[in-house]
Amino acid sequence: MATVDLYDPGTYEFDSPHEEFARLRRVDPVHWQDMPGEPGYWAVLRHADVVHVARNPLLFSCEAGGVVPEDLDPERLARMRDMLLSMDPPRHIAYRKPLAPEFAARIIAGMEEQIRAITREILAESRQRGEVEFVHETVGALPTQVIGRLFGLPESDWEMLHEWSQLNTSAQDPEINPDGDNHEAGSADSSMRMAIYGMQFAADRRTVGPQGDLMDIILGQQFDGRYLTDGDIGSLLVQMITAGNDTTVTMMAGGVWALLQHPDQLRLLREDRALIPGAVEEMLRWYNPLHYFRRTATADTEIAGTRIAAGDKVAMYYTSANRDEEVFADSQRFDVTRSPNPHLSFGIGEHFCLGVHLARLEGRVFFEELLDTFSVIEPTGDAVRVRSNLNNALKRLPLRLVA
Ligand code: HEM
Repeated sequence: MATVDLYDPGTYEFDSPHEEFARLRRVDPVHWQDMPGEPGYWAVLRHADVVHVARNPLLFSCEAGGVVPEDLDPERLARMRDMLLSMDPPRHIAYRKPLAPEFAARIIAGMEEQIRAITREILAESRQRGEVEFVHETVGALPTQVIGRLFGLPESDWEMLHEWSQLNTSAQDPEINPDGDNHEAGSADSSMRMAIYGMQFAADRRTVGPQGDLMDIILGQQFDGRYLTDGDIGSLLVQMITAGNDTTVTMMAGGVWALLQHPDQLRLLREDRALIPGAVEEMLRWYNPLHYFRRTATADTEIAGTRIAAGDKVAMYYTSANRDEEVFADSQRFDVTRSPNPHLSFGIGEHFCLGVHLARLEGRVFFEELLDTFSVIEPTGDAVRVRSNLNNALKRLPLRLVA
C-alpha cells in the first residue's frame, strides 16, 4: 500500500493526513521517511513513543543535529545550538533555569489585564471592519504585541518582527517567502536580521538602563555562570519571538476554525464560559501548531521494537500522537469537554514549552473576549493553509464577525 510522504509540504495542503497517521500507528508506528538529497528520518507516531524520545534528551539529542530534519550547514547548526530549544543537558538546564521563574504561571498571570486590553483593542478594530481575513487582520498582531510588551520592544517594530518570525517558521510557503526554492536561505536571512535587531536592542538597553521588563532580568542574570553578551541576547530574542508568535496565532485561528466546523461545540462554549480553558487545550490537541520536532540518536537503540542506529534522525510527530487512540477516547472527535487531555502540542520533558502559561492565558482571554464581542462568527470563503511540513497553520481565514 502506497504511503503518504510525510516530508512533502504538499501532503498538508488541505489538512493533516490523519487517516494515514492512524493507519501507520497501527502497522508502522516508527516509520521511515525518505528525504530528497540527504538521509531521511524516523517518524515517531505513537504518543508513548514520542514521550519516550522527549524524556531521554541524552539518548535523543537536540544539539547533535538541531531540531529540524534538514541537515544544516555548520554555520546554521552552530547558530541553532545556541538556542535553548536545541541545547542538551547540562547546558540546557543552566540556560533555562534563570528564565523559568519569569515564565512561571504566577508571574504570567499578572499580565492578564494587559493581554485583555490588547485583545479588546484588536477585536474592536475587527468589529468595525465586519469582514476580516482573521489570520492577519485579527489574531496576527496579538502575540507580537504581547511578547513586545514582555520584552519592552518598541511598538513601531512589532510588525516587522512579526514578518520575520513568519519567515522563520513558514519559509517553505512561496507566498510567505517569495525566495521559495531556497527556503533555507529565506529563513536564515530573517533569523539573522532578527538576531542583529536583538543585539542592537540589548546594546541600546544597556545604555538606557532598566525599564522594569523581562529584558532587565536577561541583562542582569548569569546564565551558565556568565552574563549574556549582546549576541546571545539577539539569539534569545529570535527564539522567543519565533516560538511564541505563529504558534499562538495558530492556536487562535485554528481554534476558531475548529469551532466553526463543530457548531455544537461552539454552542457549548457560548452557554458555559467556564469550559474555555479546557476548550483551548482541545483546540491545541486537535489543531496543534507544530507537526514535529527532531532529535538525533546518540547511540544504537530501539523505539517500540524498531532498531535505530546512532546518528539517525528521529522526528516526534505531535500531530499523530495527539490523535493516538491508545490515549484519547474517540480521538478523531473534537470535544471541548475532553478531560483529561494529555496532548503533546507543547512538547514534554526537558524542552516542554517555556511559554506555556503565556500561551494558555492568551488563549483563554482571547476566546472569552471573542465570544463576548461577537454573536455571529461565520466563514465568508475557504480557509487556506500554510504550505509547510512543520508549521500546521492557517494562512487565510475569511470571516464575518457580527457584534
Ligand atoms: C500555542 C502556542 C505555543 C505552542 C504550541 C508551543 C509549542 C512548543 C513546543 C512543542 C516546544 C517544545 C519543543 C521541543 O520539545 O523540542 C516549545 C518550546 C519552547 N517554547 Fe513554545 N509554544 C507556544 C508558545 C510559546 C510562547 C508564547 C513562548 C514565549 C514567549 C514560547 C517559548 C518557547 C521556548 C523558549 C521553548 C524552548 C524551551 C526549551 O527548549 O527549554 N512558546 N514550544
